Amino acid sequence: MKKSTAYTESVEQTHQLGERIGKAAEGNMVLLLSGDLGAGKTTLTQGIAKGLGVKRNVTSPTFTILKIYRGRMPLYHIDAYRLEGVTQDLGFEELMEDDGLTVIEWSQFIPELIPDEYLSVSIRLKDEDQREFEFEAVGERYEKLLEAIL
Ligand SMILES: Nc1ncnc2c1ncn2[C@@H]1O[C@H](COP(=O)(O)OP(=O)(O)OP(=O)(O)O)[C@@H](O)[C@H]1O
Ligand SMILES: [Mg+2]
Repeated sequence: MKKSTAYTESVEQTHQLGERIGKAAEGNMVLLLSGDLGAGKTTLTQGIAKGLGVKRNVTSPTFTILKIYRGRMPLYHIDAYRLEGVTQDLGFEELMEDDGLTVIEWSQFIPELIPDEYLSVSIRLKDEDQREFEFEAVGERYEKLLEAIL
């Protein structure tokens, strides 16, 4: 396991951080994003999408739970905020095994779906425009990904 921390001072910098993740990500990877409402999970995902070459604008999937975007590989953007306590199988496991990048906001609400290996990003609001990103990479592929983005 490998840990690292990064800071951004603006939405633009968070987009750039995300873009580096999107560029370095490989197929069949899972990113777990946590942090309070408005921390910047969706903002980071917008950058990830850009790094994957997604042209469409990424918006918060809160009401739809899952949005799929087409880039150099598919981006599966899941927002589990509304899934707290939901136990029925929504088919996410199959998605995560697919050759795309799965980004999950509020993954703590679907603990049974957290895979053995992942990159988790815990975002903290430091100031109005300042955010702290605490990365935890579990598994060799994710440790390499973390090295590539920081
Ligand atoms: N450095 C920064 N990085 C990211 N967002 C920032 C930053 N500074 C200010 N912001 C603002 O913080 C908010 C982040 O919102 P965002 O939708 O990304 O949060 P979220 O974590 O996805 O929230 P939710 O849990 O509601 O989905 C935006 O309004 C954005 O403009
Ligand atoms: Mg969000």
